[in-house]
Amino acid sequence: MRILSGIQPTGIMHLGNYLGAVRRWKDMQTKHECLFPVVDLHALTVPQNPKELRKATLNKVMELIASGLDPERCTLFVQSHVKEHTELAWILQTIAPLGELERMTQYKEKGKTQKSGVNAGLLTYPALMASDILLYQTDAVPVGKDQVQHLEFTRTMARKFNSTFGQTFKEPAALVSSEKEGAKIMSLVDPKKKMSKSDPNPKGRVSPFEDPEHIRRNIMGATTDAGKEIRYSPAKKPGVSNLLVLHSLMSGESIASIEKRFKGKGYAPFKRELAELAVSFSEPLRKKKRELERREAYIQELLKRGARKARSLAEPTIEEVRERVGLLS
Ligand code: AMP
Ligand code: TRP
Repeated sequence: MRILSGIQPTGIMHLGNYLGAVRRWKDMQTKHECLFPVVDLHALTVPQNPKELRKATLNKVMELIASGLDPERCTLFVQSHVKEHTELAWILQTIAPLGELERMTQYKEKGKTQKSGVNAGLLTYPALMASDILLYQTDAVPVGKDQVQHLEFTRTMARKFNSTFGQTFKEPAALVSSEKEGAKIMSLVDPKKKMSKSDPNPKGRVSPFEDPEHIRRNIMGATTDAGKEIRYSPAKKPGVSNLLVLHSLMSGESIASIEKRFKGKGYAPFKRELAELAVSFSEPLRKKKRELERREAYIQELLKRGARKARSLAEPTIEEVRERVGLLS
């Protein structure tokens, strides 16, 4: 199978990204042909500081390698280095129904945060994501629950292109894990919202790349629910349930067993254990990242290699697309 998934460069990688997405990518790279673009063009849909965006892109690549992605086993590259993404995105935009784009949850949510108005790129974002996926005849896309709607849109685009111009694209499947497997890690402050790097309140997230004090502070400060029982019940106890999922994913212990161990003990000892667990879980990732920060030339080189590989895979499809829609060769 050919697998592809993308991650935006901006913001620090948090446990939602890591446990919900990147950790699964790491397992997949040993079994499948995998492509992982850092999607810098997607980041441009909200205002960016150019210097910082460049830095963030390199930083994201380092975080991904520190998280266990192996550039020898998977194709790690920067989206903007492979211009075919933009070309296909434009062509897909010409068949994308405006109404569907306007209904996308991420567009509506991000739109609300844009004080100086929404740009057209934020609206057509899903067409660029569809091009990331369809360009490589991808079989499956591992994503968190938040991206399922975009993937449905990608499938719609594939079907529409194929029925209009003839069979060209494979329809990719979404690989979404269950909530207990980390498909949706919630904010530590507001457990009704997903943990997000764009949340203006940094206390809602915790990252394996932050220093131990920061990790401890955010976990100890996490919102818990009324009562003092440690019980998994996302509807009644969203805060505690989210912490139980985090614990179980990092420790490998079942949620039932954690509930049993903390029966009648209240929230504080549970949070203390979770905080220490998160600190020790994060340590090897942080260490690897620090090593990579000293090897920028190596990172640049492997990104060049990644882009060459990706381009060679994309070329036959983009050639076929140009031909099918009637562009002069
Ligand atoms: P992003 O940080 O939005 O670029 O997302 C990168 C990957 O992490 C995508 O596959 C998302 O679905 C996934 N992801 C983002 N936030 C969460 C979260 N809170 N829980 C689980 N997965 C997430
Ligand atoms: N839209 C995704 C997100 O915000 C990132 C992304 C861009 C992506 N292109 C992709 C994910 C292709 C999977 C496949 O998380």
